[in-house]
Amino acid sequence: MENIILTGDRPTGRLHLGHLVGSLSQRVQLQNSGQFDQIFIEIADAQATTDNSGNIQKVKDNVIEVALDYLSCGIDPSKSTIFLQSEVPELSDLTFYYMNLVTLARLQRNPTVKQEITYRGFDNSIPVGFLTYPISQAADITAFNANIVPVGDDQLPMIEQTREIVRTFNRLYGETLVEPQAVLPQNVVCQRLPGTDGQAKMSKSIGNCIYLADSPEEVRKKVMSMYTDPNHLKVSDPGDTKDNPVFIYLSAFAKDEHFAEYFMNKETGKLEYKNLEELKAHYERGGLGDMKVKKFLNFVIEDTLAPIRARRHYYEQHIPEVYQILFDGSDKARKIAAETLQRVKRAIGLDYRNDIELINDQCIKYGSEPITYSSDSEKKIR
Ligand code: TRP
Repeated sequence: MENIILTGDRPTGRLHLGHLVGSLSQRVQLQNSGQFDQIFIEIADAQATTDNSGNIQKVKDNVIEVALDYLSCGIDPSKSTIFLQSEVPELSDLTFYYMNLVTLARLQRNPTVKQEITYRGFDNSIPVGFLTYPISQAADITAFNANIVPVGDDQLPMIEQTREIVRTFNRLYGETLVEPQAVLPQNVVCQRLPGTDGQAKMSKSIGNCIYLADSPEEVRKKVMSMYTDPNHLKVSDPGDTKDNPVFIYLSAFAKDEHFAEYFMNKETGKLEYKNLEELKAHYERGGLGDMKVKKFLNFVIEDTLAPIRARRHYYEQHIPEVYQILFDGSDKARKIAAETLQRVKRAIGLDYRNDIELINDQCIKYGSEPITYSSDSEKKIR
């Protein structure tokens, strides 16, 4: 079996550090590992319309933002196929058939969807398309025969739903679809980066994100005003590093090289802190001020973002090239999705053009002259 990855994002905003540690870095790493035969990255613009039907402009504008973010993080279009969901209409056809395999009660139990419904205040006015997006996500995954889906943990219910659809489909219609597996980021810290305000999650609506496209000045301002341990009032006070976003970010981004570079005392030739453990220990016992840690964090984030910014700058100067990448990717994706759709329709039994038995049965039933074929290649009727 081939190793095929599919993953994606809704284009509803620019991507931030949470996306970088939660998914983008892992994708780039998987892409460059050489272990995968094919990699598909979907910009899920159609899914984004399910809760933005009155604001399509927002979805449309963010397609390019997400594409720029992908490319600047190192997604390489010669290795990974980036495509637009709305450019692959076969996905909607697949969704339509999968809908019959899922109950309303099952959809309503999806914890991520439930949370989103509460969060968006849909209550009793849930758009049907929104409630069913996990089914369309199953179409996204199965259309490309993906066996691996790298995602954040909020997407696990979608992968579970996909697996159920695959099992039901294969049981009813014969072995047709590939059952995928979710792959979470290895580093536990990376599964969810808190907001700069200490809230559990970076979220554009709260305004607690550091964006990949932020300027050095914007990053510096955000880092320097980050929430830390509220009980760490004086430098001499002992501080908490566990629920402290500054330290959580450091565990996600800081490498020992950063310590070697930043904390080298040039006069003594000594390292003030060798690694994060030493820095944490000092903060915990007291005597280390937030300013000093934040300045270091800013250095680390800048080091992480500098190459990303440079690539972004190139692509910002070549916007038509970026759209071309999306269109080429979409053409390639569409071919594969069309093959899957044909296989699915054949498995279900809705494949009239190739179903000579059906036609001849009807001929016999009604007394028409049956049709004959001399070779397999002529089997297609039209
Ligand atoms: N639901 C995902 C998000 O919120 C986007 C997405 C659409 C996706 N189709 C997918 C993710 C298929 C993984 C696999 O960002």
